Amino acid sequence: MADATGFHLKGSAPERYEHYVAPLMAPFVTALVDAADLFPGATVLDLACGTGFAARAAAAQAGPTGRVAGTDADEGMLKVAVDRHPRLYPDIEFTAAPADDLPHPAAVFDAVLCQQGAQFFPDLDAALRETARVTRPGGRFAATVWSRPEASPYFAALYEVVLAHGGPEAGTQYLSAFHAADRLTAALTRAGYHRVTRRELTYTVALPPLEEYVPGHLSAIPWGRVLTESGGPEALARAADALRAALPAGTTAFPFSATLVTAVR
Ligand SMILES: C[S@@+](CC[C@H](N)C(=O)[O-])C[C@H]1O[C@@H](n2cnc3c(N)ncnc32)[C@H](O)[C@@H]1O
Repeated sequence: MADATGFHLKGSAPERYEHYVAPLMAPFVTALVDAADLFPGATVLDLACGTGFAARAAAAQAGPTGRVAGTDADEGMLKVAVDRHPRLYPDIEFTAAPADDLPHPAAVFDAVLCQQGAQFFPDLDAALRETARVTRPGGRFAATVWSRPEASPYFAALYEVVLAHGGPEAGTQYLSAFHAADRLTAALTRAGYHRVTRRELTYTVALPPLEEYVPGHLSAIPWGRVLTESGGPEALARAADALRAALPAGTTAFPFSATLVTAVR
C-alpha cells in the first residue's frame, strides 16, 4: 500500500535516485547553496539530505575549516550519501533522524538547507521549530520545493501517467511533492523566522536519452514503486513508454520549476 504522502524508497532505489535524479537537481542545488550565503568555515545542516546532493555542494563552499551535517529519515538514502561522499572537503556527518527530532545541540548551524524535503514532513511546524533550535541567531534557512507540475512538460506528463497507470491514490501521492511553498513560508513565520522570502526558479535541464532515462527515473521515485507494486516491472515499462510518448518529440531538454524559500533565524 502506498503512503498518502511522504517520500519512501525501498531496496536499491536510493542508488537509482542518486543516478537519475542528479541531473534534475543540479541547477537547483547551486541556487539553494548560493541563497544560504555560505562562507569558508561555515557550519551547515542539509535537512532531509537524501543521497547528499546539497550537503556535498555545501561542503565545497564551507571548505576544510567548515562543518557539514546531513540528516534524513531514510537509512537507505544515507548509505548512498556516505558511499558517494568523496572526502575531499570536511567530512560530512550523515545521521539518520526525522526532521522534527534532530540530534544536534542548539544554535550550532550557520545555515540549514532543505532541498525537496519539506513538502514530505508529516509535521512541518515541528520540523521548523527544530531547525530554528539548531540554527544560531541570524543564521540562514534555504529550501526548494517543486512549484506546480504544469510548469514542466515532464512533470505534467508524469502526473498524467501516474494517475492513469497507478490510480487516484498514486496521483494524490505524486501531487504531495508540489504546491508546498505557501505552507512552508507560513510555517517559517510561525517558527519565529524573519525575512521570509520566496522566488520561482526555472531551469531547462537536458536529460539523458529518454529511452534509458525515463524507466530509470520512474524506478527511482516512490510513484514508480507504486506502479511496480500494483503491476510488476511490466507496469513500470508500460508507464515509461506512455510517459515518453506524452513528451514533446525531438528534445530531451525540459523546463523544471521550483520555489526557493529563504528565511533568517
Ligand atoms: C525528494 S527527496 C530529496 C532528497 C535530497 N534533499 C535531494 O536533494 O535529493 C525527499 C527526502 O526527504 C526525506 N524525508 C521525508 N520525510 C522526512 C522526515 N520526516 N524527516 C527526515 N527526512 C524525511 C526522504 O527520506 C527523502 O530522502
